[in-house]
Amino acid sequence: MALARTRAVALLGVDGQIVDVEAAITNGVPGLHLVGLPDTALSEARDRVRAAIFNSGEVWPNRHVTVSLFPASLPKRGSGFDLAISIAVLGASEVLPPDACAGQVMIGELGLDGRIRPVSGVLPAVLAAADSGAETVIVASGNAAEASLVPGVRVIGVPSLRALLARLRDLPPPQEADEGTAAAAGPASHSDGLASRSRARRGELDLADVRGQAEGRKILEISAAGGHHVCFMGPPGCGKTMLAERLPTLLPDLDRGAALEVSAIHSVAGTLPAGQPLITRPPFQAPHHTASRAALVGGGSARMIQPGAASLAHRGILFLDESPEFAGGVLDGLRQPLEEGEVVIARSGATARFPARFTMLLAANPCPCAAPKTRDCSCAPSVRRRYLARLSGPLLDRVDLKSRLKEVTRAELRYDLELAESSKVVAERVLTARERTRARLADTPWRTNAEIPGRELRRRFAPQPRALATLDRPLADGRLSARGLDRVVRVAWTLTDLTGKERPTADEINQALGLWEGRA
Ligand SMILES: Nc1ncnc2c1ncn2[C@@H]1O[C@H](COP(=O)(O)OP(=O)(O)OP(=O)(O)O)[C@@H](O)[C@H]1O
Ligand SMILES: [Mg+2]
Ligand SMILES: [Zn+2]
Repeated sequence: MALARTRAVALLGVDGQIVDVEAAITNGVPGLHLVGLPDTALSEARDRVRAAIFNSGEVWPNRHVTVSLFPASLPKRGSGFDLAISIAVLGASEVLPPDACAGQVMIGELGLDGRIRPVSGVLPAVLAAADSGAETVIVASGNAAEASLVPGVRVIGVPSLRALLARLRDLPPPQEADEGTAAAAGPASHSDGLASRSRARRGELDLADVRGQAEGRKILEISAAGGHHVCFMGPPGCGKTMLAERLPTLLPDLDRGAALEVSAIHSVAGTLPAGQPLITRPPFQAPHHTASRAALVGGGSARMIQPGAASLAHRGILFLDESPEFAGGVLDGLRQPLEEGEVVIARSGATARFPARFTMLLAANPCPCAAPKTRDCSCAPSVRRRYLARLSGPLLDRVDLKSRLKEVTRAELRYDLELAESSKVVAERVLTARERTRARLADTPWRTNAEIPGRELRRRFAPQPRALATLDRPLADGRLSARGLDRVVRVAWTLTDLTGKERPTADEINQALGLWEGRA
């Protein structure tokens, strides 16, 4: 019996696990048998592998070939196993020297013509391979740049099965007419024109475009500095959307670790920008209010569990414009990510995990009629209350900064031009404040004030002793809950870091209370 072994990676969410691929040739009815819980896509691999081997000018072993993938209990999906299967088959049939491929990690889909196609999720897959001690990983040329982001592992990008075989046989690479295009093309979904257009547009956005709205601007600065969730409420046309879209311009670049985390999620979703596989700017996701729960928090079938906007916004911003208009129940899905910083999706035996730690930004009109001036509103008070009640409960409770914006006056629109600070100026203050926070939190796992757990706000990171006295009244009369108290203290810390003070005083606590209540 001839045997050969290669390795591949099974992905669940952004967690990868090494899969051993073993091919054995035995006497028996000719045919290719895949064992080890392959899903339908994997069965399709059978046809692709056969055609690709044949079209690469190799001999298909007309024998009984068994390919097993284990651990068998691990759910395996997608087409990324093609390459490891085909090389194992060729090794077992001794078309290749059996140890030429021994135990190598290979990730790629085969075209019928033998071309190696890029797959989504290569970044987390290679991260998992590196974690398991693999030194070399073979991927499609079109995935090589993305795979090379992983430190400590050698990445070999190959355009075709023919080229890979030449390599494994120590022969010079074959001449391939279409090699260039194969290397340049990412998976179809990677060339997401829409995403790159909006990115380009965002590059031009600046906080200075917003006239007036000093309070709204200040709130963005506080949110950017401390990672606090925001709700903007106000009449149509007052600049809610405009302000929200400019929050990313105030945030610093992602550090290397965060950039890899974010890119891994976008790799699985197939939304990595082509030709620029590392996402270094905080992402901005703005799902439309008609979005489904799956689009918002992730979902899909067991075969293809996909991250939602909440995960695509990881380490960035999730903007829910016209938030009361989201269908009932959809926003409830945000409860888990807001609490745990990740989304867990279970589907018939498979459980996928996607990180989802984002800053939430809500925008809302005060009522469904959306009258441009408060005096034109024809809604009954009960209608207005019910409209905003759609947001309460899980969401509004967690919003540290609530702001009621007023319409901009004509004078402001005309004269505020020079007064408005640019994003660059504000981003510098944000960075300084964030550095102060980081220095204080240096020996903790938290990076921003919004992440500090309540118990630490009472021990290590307590405000000045007398500062909290101003909260006694609101606590006593029920305006402030225990959770609200923690939120007020977190914002007070951010205000302190923005001014460079040592510790929050009654001043910062008072201001933070105002922002939490939304009375400002
Ligand atoms: N403060 C402002 N400074 C400059 N332009 C503004 C301002 N507010 C509104 N505008 C102008 O009005 C347009 C609409 O603003 P925006 O979409 O942000 O309002 P909105 O509050 O989101 O309204 P809606 O409730 O209808 O969504 C902007 O594109 C901009 O041209
Ligand atoms: Mg708007
Ligand atoms: Zn109204």
